Amino acid sequence: MSAEDEINKILNTESPKELMAQAKPFRRLMTQYTCAIMEVETKIRVLNEEFKTDYQRNPIETIKSRIKTPVAIVEKLKRRNQEVSLESIEENLTDVAGVRVICSFPEDIYKVAELIEGQDDIRIVLKKDYIQNPKPNGYRSLHLILEVPVFFAEGKKLMKVEVQFRTIAMDFWASLEHKLAYKHDIKNQEEISKELRNCADITNSVDYRMQEIRNKIDENQK
Ligand code: GTP
Ligand code: MG
Repeated sequence: MSAEDEINKILNTESPKELMAQAKPFRRLMTQYTCAIMEVETKIRVLNEEFKTDYQRNPIETIKSRIKTPVAIVEKLKRRNQEVSLESIEENLTDVAGVRVICSFPEDIYKVAELIEGQDDIRIVLKKDYIQNPKPNGYRSLHLILEVPVFFAEGKKLMKVEVQFRTIAMDFWASLEHKLAYKHDIKNQEEISKELRNCADITNSVDYRMQEIRNKIDENQK
């Protein structure tokens, strides 16, 4: 079969045709999520700039954003026995658009989060404080699911964005834990889990000690 015949055969089967028909609306939806990320990133950057002028230091180290891949979107919907459609993505998934805000100190997380929560165009869909209540494995982070208005040619649309606030230390631990987490077929699972939890507690104590050092320096300056 020639390459052209192969392509024609694929195009004439039912499902790829459906896929092709869905491709453009899907890309459009993903673009809308990208724009929602831009809106939230700008809000965070604005707060960082303002903070810099007022206190001569920036509370935010870095912002990392990502859009969930099509494969991960489909996998998550199927895993939860939810319909795989554009409507279902918007209704059921809250983490298609993800923004990770890495702050310098734990106090900064709450300061920045509080200012975001107070903005009158933002609705808090869900808040999970894994800093006050760390996960059993030691994971710490403040998660907010936001709904933010984005203005497109055809009008305003409310888009959901997951924002994770972490300190550098929390992010350091979570990044390494994430790399190790998929290895489940190990013999000494119990011991490894204990070690990871122990490391999370150590990084947490360093976080608060560094914050105390900063507070002492600030007091001495006054
Ligand atoms: P997901 O289905 O994974 O989105 O979990 P969830 O709906 O229960 O939400 P949750 O707030 O617990 O987790 C959302 C995201 O936080 C995950 O996708 C990860 O990015 C991060 N996260 C949560 N728990 C852990 C953890 O134990 N380790 C690491 N490294 N990241 C975590
Ligand atoms: Mg997730």
